[in-house]
Amino acid sequence: MTEQVYHIPVLAQQVLDVLQPAPGKLFLDGTVGGGGHSSLLLAASAPDGFLLGLDQDDEALAEATRRLAPYQGRYRLIRSNFADMAAAAAEAGLSGFDGILLDIGVSSHQLDAPERGFSFHNDAPLDMRMDRRMPLSAADVVNTYSEDELTDIFYRYGEENWSRRIAKFIVEQREKKPLATTLELAELIKRAIPAAKREKDQHPAKRVFQALRIEVNQELSVLTKGMEAALQLLKPGGRLAVISFHSLEDRIVKEMFRDWATGCICPPKQPICTCKHQAQVKVLTRKPLLATPQELEENYRAHSAKLRAVEKL
Ligand SMILES: C[S@@+](CC[C@H](N)C(=O)[O-])C[C@H]1O[C@@H](n2cnc3c(N)ncnc32)[C@H](O)[C@@H]1O
Repeated sequence: MTEQVYHIPVLAQQVLDVLQPAPGKLFLDGTVGGGGHSSLLLAASAPDGFLLGLDQDDEALAEATRRLAPYQGRYRLIRSNFADMAAAAAEAGLSGFDGILLDIGVSSHQLDAPERGFSFHNDAPLDMRMDRRMPLSAADVVNTYSEDELTDIFYRYGEENWSRRIAKFIVEQREKKPLATTLELAELIKRAIPAAKREKDQHPAKRVFQALRIEVNQELSVLTKGMEAALQLLKPGGRLAVISFHSLEDRIVKEMFRDWATGCICPPKQPICTCKHQAQVKVLTRKPLLATPQELEENYRAHSAKLRAVEKL
């Protein structure tokens, strides 16, 4: 990928199929990134569709502003976490959305920009904040969390089998000198995992870096909050599409959608419903939508992308 390409939107056709852009429709893109999906939604809803685009990263909004320039007057960009989308929508004076998109995780640009500290391939300060106004960086996590807390995070968010040993190595190292850079941490993780036990097809630091990123950006709790807010902002018949990139996120999306789509949950033998649980959505994707072989050839990132969608009743 060249530096000029900020981020290639994944599952683009599937997003359009699910969100069905058309003139006059109102969209919210909670992860506007480089503006890839947003520009497709705006193009397909010409001449008067409108889009509210959110991102917590100032660099993403600068890129999106460039990319969306041809649609001037038909969109508004706000720097916000998508967990706070209700406030952003109120600020923009918008409600009753026809379609909401969350394409979660980091962009290719964030991964490729060494100074952001997301990559174990480039040496950089251990940062990993998508929103650089936030106080907690990856360096703070590895240098201040207890050994048990680190073990727990690596295990829960990285599904890392060597979490306890890696946490022990980190604590021993930081007593001599705090960990400061991505490569220091990547090398330490490599030493902590016995050579014979390392997975052949992935870098030994991959799982721990994923776990730190999730912790620093509180990715799982903001996903839950963002999805709940999205359900409230949709109008009846409006659609929510979520693209996730690893199993922890996909499980949250699948389970929330299933819960929203469930009606009465009283015991089957009970004659009268007392739970008052009502289905709020129809699930549009029984199985997640995946990239086509052609997209996989063109965009490596699409390999782990899964799209699930619901329609509000
Ligand atoms: C995968 S990229 C989105 C790319 C975009 N769909 C496109 O086509 O260019 C994810 C973007 O979402 C942003 N992001 C991730 N989590 C966020 C959150 N909780 N709130 C706001 N933005 C978030 C990241 O900063 C990043 O720019």
